[in-house]
Amino acid sequence: MQAGVITIFPEIFSTITRFGTIRKAIESNLFEFKSFDIRDYASDRRRTVDARPYGGGPGMILMPEPLAACIDYAKQSVGGPVIFLTPRGERFDQKMAEELAQVPKFTLVCGRYEGIDERIIKTRVDQEVSIGDYVISGGEFAALVLLDAVVRLLPGVLGNKESAHQDSFSNGMLEGPHYTRPEKFEGLDVPRVLLSGNHQEIKKWRHQQALDWTRKRRPDLEGNYNQYR
Ligand code: ADE
Repeated sequence: MQAGVITIFPEIFSTITRFGTIRKAIESNLFEFKSFDIRDYASDRRRTVDARPYGGGPGMILMPEPLAACIDYAKQSVGGPVIFLTPRGERFDQKMAEELAQVPKFTLVCGRYEGIDERIIKTRVDQEVSIGDYVISGGEFAALVLLDAVVRLLPGVLGNKESAHQDSFSNGMLEGPHYTRPEKFEGLDVPRVLLSGNHQEIKKWRHQQALDWTRKRRPDLEGNYNQYR
């Protein structure tokens, strides 16, 4: 998989190549990442990329020309669909992560300030994606969230092949509790069934825990459960 990111803060993305899952994916040649700095496509000496909104209002808007030139370059270099991160986009979830994990190339556009010129969306954006119903100050952290969620699903990235399937949401439910050593911690015991060695019983117990937890915390997920995964 190859992903491009269009941003005015390429340094933010230097972290993903250095840590954890994404680093591992890059080192194993399962994932390639390129960032593109919108300011490199500005036409003035001050590298201006934003301007006041027509019609007035607060904040600054990313101007169309440098952004268009940057997207066009990234499309040549990486290719694939162009995804704009914005709170007004379609909501990102595990299902979308799984779908994107099948897309070999895509380019993410990170907005800053109050937004980007609508004509960019019209001419160059294929999909608008939001990571949730809240506003952060730009698309960069949203892009990091999306990339992490997608890259960890690529075959071969996670050590244990099973572990992505057992995640919260991958079967439509939240995950149940986990325990490790020691058996007793501050007076609290590990549930006996987990020490029983009876894998059938353990599986049943975990499923029930996940079900109870999901019903309590996220009743809105009812109906999504896939009992057989
Ligand atoms: N940019 C600002 N807020 C965002 C959000 N919730 N999702 C994606 N991009 C954003």
